Amino acid sequence: MQGKGSAAIHRYHKKHGLSAVRVGPNEVSLPADPEVLKEVYGPTFLKSRHYDAFKIAGHAPIFGERSREAHAARVKRILPWMSKANVLQIGEPIIQEKVSKLCSRFDALIQEGSAAVDVLKSFRCFAVDSISAFTLPEGWNTLDEEDLDSPMGTVIDVINTSAPTAFFSLRFHAWYDHVKQKLRSLLDSEGLAREGDAFGRLDAFADKSYEQSLKDNGSDVVTSFRQCTNADGEPLTKQQIKTEIEDLLFAGTDSSATTLSTIAFHVCRSKSIQERLLSELREVMPHRDSHVTLKTLEKLPYLTAAIREGLRVAQPVPRRLPRVVPPGGWTYERTGQYLPEGAIVGVAAYELHRSSPFADPESFLPERWLGDNTSLVQMTAAFAAFGRGSRMCIGQNFAMAELYLATAYLFRRFAGEVITPKEIVYLDNFNASIKGGSVTLRLRVVN
Ligand code: HEM
Repeated sequence: MQGKGSAAIHRYHKKHGLSAVRVGPNEVSLPADPEVLKEVYGPTFLKSRHYDAFKIAGHAPIFGERSREAHAARVKRILPWMSKANVLQIGEPIIQEKVSKLCSRFDALIQEGSAAVDVLKSFRCFAVDSISAFTLPEGWNTLDEEDLDSPMGTVIDVINTSAPTAFFSLRFHAWYDHVKQKLRSLLDSEGLAREGDAFGRLDAFADKSYEQSLKDNGSDVVTSFRQCTNADGEPLTKQQIKTEIEDLLFAGTDSSATTLSTIAFHVCRSKSIQERLLSELREVMPHRDSHVTLKTLEKLPYLTAAIREGLRVAQPVPRRLPRVVPPGGWTYERTGQYLPEGAIVGVAAYELHRSSPFADPESFLPERWLGDNTSLVQMTAAFAAFGRGSRMCIGQNFAMAELYLATAYLFRRFAGEVITPKEIVYLDNFNASIKGGSVTLRLRVVN
């Protein structure tokens, strides 16, 4: 079932309608019912032990922290940094600079009218450079490297392939990982060395960021983490802060890159989408080198619709996000199904993004977001790309800024057509990853 779990469970949900479906001895998948989200993703349903799979060196970073109190104490210090106001003031100029670098890289490739570009790899570099420059004393600057196949790309691939086993098969993953490692050391020593090198570079980067932040004592996320405590109420150690840095880089890279690749793929595949987007962009960017602000772009209806549709289709975190039923148990009111305390429940974006408000859900249709107000309200209620409730994505303001600025600058400057793949297939390795690991477009500069 590796990488296809959500599709398999979706078939059961289709068969059983609005019932909860049992997917493990103590675990159920809830159907695409927006009514249930407020409760299950509210403060009393804590993250399940599945999230221990995200511990690094024994420390649970914000993403994997299961204790309500420990999570609240840490996230309180980090949230101001991720606020919309801070994204506009500090984040936007950084993203503008990274998009401009990305466009220059594509310009340089286009020698004889057009060029084939692997946008997935390029967007990973763009995303890791952007989030690192925004949160850390210095950015990673992988867009400056000759080869855009950055070490972060390898780290992401390794995490993506091991995450489903670690996250969803807790009982077996230690055994499975052991056997897998043994086999790989026999069969693929070169691959292992490359992965080791990639993880080593990530660790060295986190180390450098920590030391630099100590020296500067300035304003960055590392400084905020230094004021945080761990689950024991002690100040975070250097190793724990490095874990938080690595976790932010992972959380903030592939989800944005997968969404941008999805948008770019569908824009390039459809002449009418591409023309409509370009014509709207020309209104605020008369020339392909024109500067435009995030605030202006956020007012563009078609661009906004294409980004929402990209998030819906890419569903970068597709699987159910598991939560524990609190003391006293819980009844799923719609069907009367009772779940005892300690049972694990969750709703998947995969279900929600294919539910009834989205007609023809497998198609990329930005215009669905431009319909009447009633359908917009229903679609918004079933939209969960950034999760829901008290553990919703803290990076969403930054991610949305990346999506607006990158989509606008790229498609004001370049026209494209898809070379490969024919269709994007998503593997739901906790984060969705794109099967084949590349999205290659033929790009040319437009007027
Ligand atoms: C398109 C881009 C993104 C998508 C679709 C996305 C999606 C999500 C989702 C669904 C969750 C909830 C997971 C759960 O409940 O288990 C989440 C949490 C989180 N995301 Fe994102 N994310 C994106 C970008 C980012 C960025 C740029 C950052 C940068 C730092 C980030 C950092 C985090 C963190 C730290 C959490 C854990 C929050 C908590 O538990 O309080 N994400 N994200």
